[in-house]
Amino acid sequence: MKVVVFISGRGSNLAALLNAQQSGGFEVVHVISNKASAYGLEIAQENGVNNSHIVWTDKQQGEQYAIEVLNQVKPDLIVLAGFMKVLSAQFVAQFENKIINIHPSLLPLYPGLNTHQRAIDDGQTIHGASVHLVDDQLDHGLVLSQCHVEITQQDTADSLAVKLITKEHRLLTETVALIAANKLTWIDSLALNGEPLASALVIE
Ligand code: GRF
Repeated sequence: MKVVVFISGRGSNLAALLNAQQSGGFEVVHVISNKASAYGLEIAQENGVNNSHIVWTDKQQGEQYAIEVLNQVKPDLIVLAGFMKVLSAQFVAQFENKIINIHPSLLPLYPGLNTHQRAIDDGQTIHGASVHLVDDQLDHGLVLSQCHVEITQQDTADSLAVKLITKEHRLLTETVALIAANKLTWIDSLALNGEPLASALVIE
């Protein structure tokens, strides 16, 4: 399964996907970043993966460049991994059911930024991350899979981020591998191995 990964920053989820791709039955064939300085672009380069920096100051223009790349590469799946832009309804419609995002909260809780601090401020004891289908709203769409971490009295936003990131990597790589194997599907409704799932698949 051919995967294109969109990033904006350090690219640790991208690195996790690259490490898992052989055993996971997928291949990251192109990386797109809206930031020239994104460390993830260096990761792509070091791993010999084609990559593009796309100027995204104008949304329509940015999306048009991305569509040109995607129409050439023809990926089976587009993974947003730390990509800090919301895509338009027109863009999403062109790649319907093919775009997923990883977000560091238990969606529908805490779409947007500062998710760890918001979970602490609300007195939550459980936090986590979600992989979801992408629509034109921020961190919104069918949630496919989730992982959880405990919030302790001592936790800060930084300590929570550290605890969660390794679980996020596992969540994303295992979810993509299940999609590649056609085990996790969502065309009529979310299902694992053909059996309907009442809620997001839990991957701890
Ligand atoms: C991750 O926490 C991801 O869930 C969120 O942005 C962060 C990206 O980290 N969407 P990285 O660039 O993959 O290291």
